[in-house]
Amino acid sequence: MLSIARSTLRPAFARRSLAGAARLASLHTVPDLPYAYNALEPFISEEIMKLHHQKHHQAYVNGLNAAEEAYAKSVSTKDHIALQSALKFNGGGHINHSLFWKNLAPAGEEGGTLESGPLKTLIERDFGSVEAFKKEFNTKTAAIQGSGWGWLGYDPKSGKLDVVTTANQDPLITHTPLIGVDIWEHAFYLQYKNVKPDYLNAIWNVINFKEAEQRLNRSYLYMY
Ligand SMILES: [Fe+2]
Repeated sequence: MLSIARSTLRPAFARRSLAGAARLASLHTVPDLPYAYNALEPFISEEIMKLHHQKHHQAYVNGLNAAEEAYAKSVSTKDHIALQSALKFNGGGHINHSLFWKNLAPAGEEGGTLESGPLKTLIERDFGSVEAFKKEFNTKTAAIQGSGWGWLGYDPKSGKLDVVTTANQDPLITHTPLIGVDIWEHAFYLQYKNVKPDYLNAIWNVINFKEAEQRLNRSYLYMY
């Protein structure tokens, strides 16, 4: 009798274990930074990088995991709809920041240097010059009302580069994002206070153009 009970319980236990393992496996996590917290100084301080990566990004990841778990448990369409806002905000926050960390690199290493290649060629074609591109990016991005992101994106329909902004944590979905810059105050206020243009001028020293060019090259691959 006992052996029968055991054999009937085992499959249910195994199913629960598998379901639990699958849930754990699907949890989002904050990726490690590809450089030290102080590696972007003096342009972005260690204090900002630690808070931004360890606290702010972690909060989006926690929110996304909670929203996805709630979505999986919900059975009604109404409940699913009610979770859309949390999924968009926290999901956008997670993927935007994951891209942002890779968009940056220490000055003098990968950061700040745009060498000759496909990205520089397209920037010069679509904006006139690298300096004109940076000026347009900074002007449009500084004009964001409230919190948001500034982007250099590749439009696969027109084949051109554009400077685009998105509000809140909305990800860039109309273009392939090549460079994304966080314009939330938590990204600069501790160092630059309310002077957003100073942050925008400084960040070009630590933009990883090589990563942006790799993203551009991958977007070509997806087209053909
Ligand atoms: Fe941020």
